[in-house]
Amino acid sequence: MPLARASWSVDLRDLPPMDVIFGQTSAMAAARERLEKIAATTVPVLLQGESGTGKDIFARLVHALGNRGSHSFVKVTCPAIPHTLIESELFGYEKGAFTGAYATKRGRVELAHMGTLFLDEVGGLDMSIQAKLLQVLQDGSFMRVGGQETRSVKTRLVCAANEDLRQQTEDGNFRLDFFYRINAVTIELPPLRDRAADIPKLIDYFLAVHSKAYRLEPKPLSQGITRMMQRYNWPGNIRQLENLIRGYVLMGDEESLAADLVPLAAKGIVPEIDLANPISLKEITKAATRGLEREIILKVLQANGWSRRKTAKWLNISYRSLLYKLQESEVNRVSARARKNGASSAEPD
Ligand SMILES: Nc1ncnc2c1ncn2[C@@H]1O[C@H](COP(=O)(O)OP(=O)(O)OP(=O)(O)O)[C@@H](O)[C@H]1O
Ligand SMILES: [Mg+2]
Repeated sequence: MPLARASWSVDLRDLPPMDVIFGQTSAMAAARERLEKIAATTVPVLLQGESGTGKDIFARLVHALGNRGSHSFVKVTCPAIPHTLIESELFGYEKGAFTGAYATKRGRVELAHMGTLFLDEVGGLDMSIQAKLLQVLQDGSFMRVGGQETRSVKTRLVCAANEDLRQQTEDGNFRLDFFYRINAVTIELPPLRDRAADIPKLIDYFLAVHSKAYRLEPKPLSQGITRMMQRYNWPGNIRQLENLIRGYVLMGDEESLAADLVPLAAKGIVPEIDLANPISLKEITKAATRGLEREIILKVLQANGWSRRKTAKWLNISYRSLLYKLQESEVNRVSARARKNGASSAEPD
């Protein structure tokens, strides 16, 4: 079933420690202050930030720190659900509502009763669904697909977007009334490049997590590479940092880590070739193409304000295949390193 995974409760112990999450740079202080002010209320929250800046973590924090922490936290990754299924997925359906509706089913909105409904990448929601959600926000009422009865629900709405929703309203792709409702409070998550002073602590945290997970003991990183990381511009933000550290734990090799911090343009397109061992032209071309593809995607993402939807459109590929490529580019790299390193327990997340 092409459903987004929902999680039913949030345990703060599953999140990184608070001092790691918030760090000490002023860029994050404003986000922390807002979070603390609104957590105990039920106002809708909009989390805005580039990819990998921690919107998912913040959504869980809003839920866990609020009064509804013991109730369900229901996450919906909006663009991952096909347009034809989104309404029944969110609002549920009555038996016989359509072919295949053999039994009544509750939707995500209903499952989030008394808890938190987290709409991730809300910019990808159809306008008709926005209208139905607006009603839920106004008076908690909705109808299941094929239903006659108006139902009511109490849920806190948290939305996340990595694109500029205001711009989308101007372009006519997002309802203005819905936008005003969901952004009662906006929390901006800063990009990692604005948090250079927090990088050493994040590095230590990810080193500890992945050393434990893979039962490896890598050498501490040198000051030189740490400084290089503090100067890097991190298009993939904390997720990218975590992936690099995971790769380092598996490989124990600072040089490949340093190579990842140099933009492809500075390296030239031709990859480094290990002349000591024969290698198939097909393999090396495939690897180079994949690297180039990744760089192009990152560039287009950056140019499109990190909107994956716009990027997919711009590159003329489907949204799903973009998500797949983004995932693949990190996962493949890490698992290839793991294989090379002979770490059999090295399964990527
Ligand atoms: N402040 C933070 N402290 C520690 N780890 C973090 C922090 N923010 C994010 N991470 C880690 O970085 C990764 C990406 O975070 P998250 O999924 O919350 O980002 P996101 O903003 O939702 O990204 P996307 O827009 O791509 O969905 C996760 O593995 C998360 O644990
Ligand atoms: Mg996310």
